[in-house]
Amino acid sequence: MINVGIVGATGYAGAELVRLLAGHPEVTLSVLTSRQYAGQPFEAIYPSMKGQINLDCEAYDAAGLCDRADVIFMALPHKLPMAFVPELVAKGKKVIDLSADFRFSDPAAYESAYQPHTAKDLLSRSVYGLCEVFGDQIKTADLIGNPGCYATCILLPLYPLVKAGMIDVSTLIADAKSGASGAGRSLSLVTHICEITESFKPYKVGGHRHKPEMDEILTRAGAGTVDLTFIPHLIPMSRGMEATIYAGLRKDVTAADIAACLSESYGKCPFIRLYDHGLPVDTANVRGTNFCDIGFVLEKTKGRLVLMSVIDNLVKGASGQAVQNMNLMYGFEETAGLSAISFPV
Ligand SMILES: NC(=O)c1ccc[n+]([C@@H]2O[C@H](COP(=O)([O-])OP(=O)(O)OC[C@H]3O[C@@H](n4cnc5c(N)ncnc54)[C@H](OP(=O)(O)O)[C@@H]3O)[C@@H](O)[C@H]2O)c1
Repeated sequence: MINVGIVGATGYAGAELVRLLAGHPEVTLSVLTSRQYAGQPFEAIYPSMKGQINLDCEAYDAAGLCDRADVIFMALPHKLPMAFVPELVAKGKKVIDLSADFRFSDPAAYESAYQPHTAKDLLSRSVYGLCEVFGDQIKTADLIGNPGCYATCILLPLYPLVKAGMIDVSTLIADAKSGASGAGRSLSLVTHICEITESFKPYKVGGHRHKPEMDEILTRAGAGTVDLTFIPHLIPMSRGMEATIYAGLRKDVTAADIAACLSESYGKCPFIRLYDHGLPVDTANVRGTNFCDIGFVLEKTKGRLVLMSVIDNLVKGASGQAVQNMNLMYGFEETAGLSAISFPV
C-alpha cells in the first residue's frame, strides 16, 4: 500500500481523484489539502462521499505532506505547482501535476501560453503523462505533467496516425467541445447556468492554452512542425468532451489501413476503445470512466480523414489519467481504481 496526498482536493479534479482513489486497492488516502475548507471533513464538502472518506481537509504544509504521503497529486491552478513541486521532488516524492506547469519540454512554449516558468530545470525531468503514448518513460518517472483534457481527447486519435506519416500535418483542424466542469469549480459568469443552458458556443477562438501543448507533442511524432487549428466550444453539460478532427491524408490509405494503425497502437490498451469505420462515438458512453472512444470516417475521394474522440474531461482528461500514471509509475495493474464503466442509459 502507498500513502497518497492530494493538494487542491476540493476542486473538481481533486474531488474526482478522491472518488477514484477511494476504490483503489493499493492506496491509502492520507492528506487532502484545501485553503477554504481547512479543518472541515471532506465528506461535508462532497456529501456524495459521505461515509466513504474519513479525512478532514487541511492547509498545505510541505513538511507534513511529505511525512505522510509517498505520492502527491497536485490539483491546483497552473502557476502554483511550479512554486511547490521543486521542494516535494527534492524530498524524494513522486509528483503527478494536473496543471500545465510540467507538461512542456520547451519553456518558451509554456511561457507563450502561460507565464514565466520558475522551475525550468525540472522540465527536462518531467514526463508528459499521455499513458498510451509515453508509457515506457512514465514507468521510470518521478514527475509527471498530466495532459490537458482537450490535449488528451485530440492527441490520442491523432498521434499514431501522424507518427505513421499518414497525415499531412499542415491540414489539421480540431473542433472540440467540453462540458462546464472543464472550467473548474470556482464561480464565474461564463459557467453560470443562465449563460450555458440552451447555448452552444465557441470560446478562446485561436488562443486556447492547450494548443501549444498539442503542437509540441504532435511535432514530436516526427511528421513536421505542427500548428493545429483548434476551436474549443462550451456545451451545456457538466462533464464530457468530444473532438471531431479533420485531417488531409498524405498517402493513398484505405479505411483498413487507418483501422490497422490505430489497432496496432492501441489494441492492448485497456482504456482505448476503437470503433469500426463510420460508427459514431458518444460522450454518454464514457461518462465517469477512464475510456477514450475513437471513431473515424475516411472521405476517400476528398483525401480526408475525420476522427471522432470522446472522453470524460474529469476522468481520462484529468484525474483518471493521473491515477493511470500512478499505476504505471508503481507497477500496479494499469486499470487499478479505474474499472468503472458508464451508465447504460
Ligand atoms: N476540470 C477539468 O476538467 C480539468 C481537466 C484537466 C486538467 N485540469 C487541471 O487540474 C487543475 C485543477 O482544476 P480544477 O478544474 O479542479 O479547478 P478547481 O475546481 O478550480 O480547483 C482548484 C482548487 O485549487 C485550490 N487552490 C489552492 N490555491 C489556490 C489559488 N491560489 N487559487 C485558486 N485555487 C486554489 C482551490 O481550493 P482551495 O481554495 O480550497 O484551496 C480549488 O478548489 C488545474 O490546473 C486544471 O487546469 C482540470
